[in-house]
Amino acid sequence: MNSEKPPAAGGCDPFALVDAVQARTQALWPEAAAAAGLQEAGAVFRRMQLNSGVLHRRCVLEVRTADGQSYALRAEFGGTDPLRHTRSLDRHQAAADSLMPVSGVSAPALLWRDTQNPFVLMEFVRGDTAHRELAVAEYGFGDRGSILRRIGSAVAALHEVSAAGDRQFWPKPFLTRVANQAQAVRDGQLPVPKPNKFLGLCAYLHRAGRRARGQPFRAAVEHGDLHLRNILMSETTVSFIDFSNHDGIFPQRDLANIWLANCPDHLAAEGCTPGIGLVAQADWEAFQDGYGAELVNDPVFRFFYAHRLFRCWVGLCQKPPEQQMKSAQVAARAVQVLEALLADEDD
Ligand SMILES: Nc1ncnc2c1ncn2[C@@H]1O[C@H](COP(=O)(O)OP(=O)(O)OP(=O)(O)O)[C@@H](O)[C@H]1O
Ligand SMILES: [Mg+2]
Repeated sequence: MNSEKPPAAGGCDPFALVDAVQARTQALWPEAAAAAGLQEAGAVFRRMQLNSGVLHRRCVLEVRTADGQSYALRAEFGGTDPLRHTRSLDRHQAAADSLMPVSGVSAPALLWRDTQNPFVLMEFVRGDTAHRELAVAEYGFGDRGSILRRIGSAVAALHEVSAAGDRQFWPKPFLTRVANQAQAVRDGQLPVPKPNKFLGLCAYLHRAGRRARGQPFRAAVEHGDLHLRNILMSETTVSFIDFSNHDGIFPQRDLANIWLANCPDHLAAEGCTPGIGLVAQADWEAFQDGYGAELVNDPVFRFFYAHRLFRCWVGLCQKPPEQQMKSAQVAARAVQVLEALLADEDD
């Protein structure tokens, strides 16, 4: 997913495009440094790794100032709704402020924001992405269970400081969209892979929605794009970046996203006993232990887990042709997750 090679756009040299985006981002530094009260001269810039699909319009730089401090400068050129972005940044800042007293969990403070565009200077967070921490644990560096426990407990702290009261769950708006997409598949307007299986997932979602209907839950403002590359981990701290929501209040959506946003990367590997939704049983145990709640028996969480699978499946229709092989693998795994959910329903 994070391949270094940027996509070709409109016949231009993709590497030249990426360099141009970096140059435009670097050009923001004088204004950002002045506004944040930092020394502008003598800074050095390092490009951070991004999703290959956005390299032609987004750039994140580590800026190292002459006094040895680091900052993160992030810029997006086109492709975002400015109002939505402003609200997500407000949400990011609110999370950073409210996590301040919580030890070991943080979000980087925003030091400068452009008033019109999605350009921002942040504190630089030390550490690796949670995705990488888990990957190196596979090679014997670090313990997967303790990493997942730490992530679970940090996400619980984020949701705790983002609490939005006790609510009841009403699935109707979600199910209306599910029904519309199912109709589009039947009409041949939405070319999802494995359409019959996909329709089976839509039917499952209606049953799962019925089971979750009216259930109480503790609402919390969502992170909105909580996947394991947006969680950075150092020895002491778990940090959240890249907030992408301001008004969604279903914490279960964040939790489902962790496992399925990069489907099938975090599902049970060969040789591991699979649990609910094909996440390894041991992973559920560690994560839930850290989060402090039994998610797999929560009908609202189960609904959102299946709903995230649904979104992942629909998203396969928009993948570029060069990702055909990968999409076929994701679709095959999505079918297996669906079958596991169905088998579990029969128990
Ligand atoms: N404040 C920060 N401190 C340190 N590193 C950062 C910071 N912000 C971003 N990064 C690095 O840059 C990478 C990309 O940043 P970010 O998540 O904001 O963009 P993105 O990955 O393109 O977004 P998406 O998650 O939507 O794909 C992160 O994975 C992280 O390694
Ligand atoms: Mg990110």
